[in-house]
Amino acid sequence: MNSGFVDILPFGDQGYQGDSKPLVYAFGSRKKNVEDLVNWVKIKKREIITNLNTHGAILFRGFPVESDIDFDAFVNAFEMNNLDYRDTLSNAVRINRTPRVFTANESPPDVSIFLHHELAQTTVYPSHLFFYCEQPPDGGGETPICRSDLLLEKLEDEIPLFVKKCSELGVCYTNIMPSKKDQDSGQGRSWQDTLSVSDMISAETILKDLNYNWKWLDDDSLKVITCPLPAIRLLPNGSKVFFNQLIAAFEGWNDKRNKSEESISFGDGSEISKEDMKKVCKLSDEISFDLSWEKNDIVIINNMMVMHGRKPFIGRRSILASLAIDDQEGPKFNN
Ligand SMILES: [Fe+2]
Repeated sequence: MNSGFVDILPFGDQGYQGDSKPLVYAFGSRKKNVEDLVNWVKIKKREIITNLNTHGAILFRGFPVESDIDFDAFVNAFEMNNLDYRDTLSNAVRINRTPRVFTANESPPDVSIFLHHELAQTTVYPSHLFFYCEQPPDGGGETPICRSDLLLEKLEDEIPLFVKKCSELGVCYTNIMPSKKDQDSGQGRSWQDTLSVSDMISAETILKDLNYNWKWLDDDSLKVITCPLPAIRLLPNGSKVFFNQLIAAFEGWNDKRNKSEESISFGDGSEISKEDMKKVCKLSDEISFDLSWEKNDIVIINNMMVMHGRKPFIGRRSILASLAIDDQEGPKFNN
């Protein structure tokens, strides 16, 4: 298919079928500059977003986007609201490059980041994610992506009681935040940075407003238990999605302070079966698509319907990210 000066091509297989395949927008050999690309996006943005609602993710490969500044201009062309990472309750360590662009999770190369919807463990999350490959690694470092609507269909078939409890009770997340940034952890952001405060009293005010529970620990780290948050959501288009951080927390929230298996519960505090969670992880792996990065690739992800993660890697890997909220497309949940 051709859309203006851009070819639209399907990805390879990896188990995806028909519309569930992510799309590729390949620029090919027709050289244009970033200004031409930005103008093209401004004209085509609704078409691109509609495609994102069908496929969940789009890869732009071979485009003339060669720096964080170019990437910022590309993201800006979609005219979505910027969700500044510094204002979010994310627990990952990141560094801002431009007002819209920051480094993806800075955790060490051997750390896996398991599938999740961005910031689904908090009350404010983006509708769309933009990723840009500044430097592909020497090996590994793929970004797995997984359609949550397709996963939920499988879960309803295989573990319907688990789905029912997720739906009726919601889920809570427990995380112990350090008092100083912990660069060795995927969840190493300090409580001061996470909550945008400098003292304990201000932290407590924010946690109270969020309806979270908390406990100060001896080393001034802060144990936080969220209020019950939905684990399954109904999107305006009628599809239901497994929108949460259960997989990432269950498999990955391990560090000096945290034990992953203690990081999740149902909304009433009751235990989530480890067997059920292992099933969720296995089924999500089966339908995940591993994206291997090439230099200057951009990927847009519909955060409402697609989970993402990060595989371990060797060498230097630099992926930049931007979070956005599209007023016209979400996040607007029906529950
Ligand atoms: Fe993420």
